Amino acid sequence: MKVKLASSYGFCFGVKRAIKIAEGYEDSATMGPLIHNQNEIDRLKTDYNVGLYNNLTDVKPKDTIIIRTHGIPKNDLKDLRKKDAKVINATCPFVTTPQQIVKKMSQENYSILIFGDEAHPEVKGVKSYGEDQEDVHVILSISELDNINFKYDKIATVAQTTKKKETYLEIVNALILKNKEVRVFNTICDATFENQDAARELSKEVDVMVVIGGKNSSNTKQLHSICLENCQDSYLIENAKELDPNWFKNKNLCGITAGASTPDWIIQQVVDEIEKY
Ligand code: F3S
Repeated sequence: MKVKLASSYGFCFGVKRAIKIAEGYEDSATMGPLIHNQNEIDRLKTDYNVGLYNNLTDVKPKDTIIIRTHGIPKNDLKDLRKKDAKVINATCPFVTTPQQIVKKMSQENYSILIFGDEAHPEVKGVKSYGEDQEDVHVILSISELDNINFKYDKIATVAQTTKKKETYLEIVNALILKNKEVRVFNTICDATFENQDAARELSKEVDVMVVIGGKNSSNTKQLHSICLENCQDSYLIENAKELDPNWFKNKNLCGITAGASTPDWIIQQVVDEIEKY
């Protein structure tokens, strides 16, 4: 089986940065998973004894706590500091930006609209920076707009960094028709676009496409859905063990892409395995 890698794939700047920070703090712990990739989290534990806390109540005084790439809610950060823990912030700067925009715009009496997934840690964190939580609204699709009662007729919008820009534009267009003032902040991250565009191109020319990444990672899932648009035989896996030889029967060329939290060593293992078929 011949293998072709997408022209852009894998770790983004924010994830590389967070891992580098974590590697510099042996015997520390992260607040929530540092990135959306269990294999890399396991490696950090084995090589650097970087543990994982899921609850603030687990934190002990003098612990060194690393804030995850997607950030944490404002009050969690406050509580952490109260616990006398050493706090190291590995939040991606592209996530800190929407947090600060939400804070500033809500202080200036704008209603806030976040285009994103309310359950995603990044969105929970960004939302928490709104001054009036009742007036910070999170939607995933344009159809949800009708159910929102904005407090002001001035709206500021941000998007989850991994969302599709086309859908964001639809939402923004609908907003401007109904409101006096709409401040649109493009907080969607370019790293995601680059990997998406490359995956789109590659999936058009291959027989089978393998997307490598965490199954709970929203940008990996999105890469998979883009590949499926062009190549029905597109599969999402977390590591080489999940490969199924049947996927490659009677196929010649396999395209590979990987989510923004997927380390190179996992990608290499998958490539090596597929090349054996
Ligand atoms: Fe940051 Fe963009 Fe990566 S927001 S974590 S550089 S996908």
